[in-house]
Amino acid sequence: MILTKSILSMTVAVLQLASLSSARIANRASPNAAEVIYSHDGRTCCTDGERGAIFSEGKCEYNSQAVTPSIPDDTHVTKCCWNNKANDFHVHFVDDDEVRQVSPIDITGNATVPIEICNLGLKWNITEYILTEDYLDINVNLNIDCGPFNLSDREWIRIHFDSAYRDSGEFAYEISAVGPTIYATITSKIHRSDFSVDFHGELTGTGILSQLDQSFDKNLRADEVAAILSEANIC
Ligand SMILES: *[C@@H]1O[C@H](CO)[C@@H](O)[C@H](O)[C@H]1NC(C)=O
Ligand SMILES: *[C@@H]1O[C@H](CO)[C@@H](O)[C@H](O)[C@H]1NC(C)=O
Ligand SMILES: *[C@@H]1O[C@H](CO)[C@@H](O)[C@H](O)[C@H]1NC(C)=O
Repeated sequence: MILTKSILSMTVAVLQLASLSSARIANRASPNAAEVIYSHDGRTCCTDGERGAIFSEGKCEYNSQAVTPSIPDDTHVTKCCWNNKANDFHVHFVDDDEVRQVSPIDITGNATVPIEICNLGLKWNITEYILTEDYLDINVNLNIDCGPFNLSDREWIRIHFDSAYRDSGEFAYEISAVGPTIYATITSKIHRSDFSVDFHGELTGTGILSQLDQSFDKNLRADEVAAILSEANIC
C-alpha cells in the first residue's frame, strides 16, 4: 500500500514535469515571441536591470521565450539579455575580427601588505595595455618580496569591466629551475565611484611550499587607468 502510494506520487511528479517541459517547448515554438533589440557593442554582461539569458546553439533563451538573433555576417553574439519591462531580448554582438591594439602606458608603484608569514613587499610597473569593449588587459611586472624571496614576473592581467570580483590572471615565480614555484593568483573588481581597482591575490606554492596559502588585497588607483575605466560600461 505504502509502496503503491509512493509510486503514484512519483508518477504524478513525473507527469507534472513532463507537462511543464512540453508547455515550454510549445511556448518556444510559438511565433508571438519577443522582440529583439540589437547592440553592436560586444558587451558580455547585462546592465540596466536586464537579466542574463542563455545563448546556446544560436538561440537566446529566457524562461519560456526563445529567439534566434539575426546579426550581420562576420559578427558574433557576445551576450543575450532579457528586458522584463519591454518583454524584449537584448542581443549584444561584436565583429569577429575586432582589433586588439597594444598601447604604451607607464605606471609604477609599491606597497607593503602585512601577511601572516612576512611583511609582503609589492612593487609593480605597468608598461602596456589592450583595451576592448569588455576588459582592459595590462602588462604588469609584479615583484614580491617576502622573507628570503624577492621575485619578479611579468604577465598580462585582465581587468573585467565588472564591479564584482572576476579572474584576472596569475603570476608564477620560479624559485629555481628545479625548486618550488610560488603563484600569485589575482582577481579584481572596479569601484564605480572613483574607477580604482581592487586587486585580491592568493599566494600558493608547490613542493616544499605547498603549505603556502596567504592572501593580500590592494586597491590601486592610477589616473591613466581611471581615465580609461571612466569611459567603460561597467557591469
Ligand atoms: C614607493 O612608492 C612611493 C609613492 O607611493 C614612492 O615615493 C617611492 O619612491 C616608492 N619606492 C620605491 C622603492 O619604488
Ligand atoms: C619593472 O620592474 C622590474 C622588476 O622590479 C624591473 O626589473 C624592470 O626594469 C621594470 N621595468 C620598467 C620598464 O620599469
Ligand atoms: C627586490 O627586488 C626588487 C626588484 O628587483 C628590488 O628593487 C628590491 O630592492 C629588492 N629588495 C630587496 C630587499 O632586496
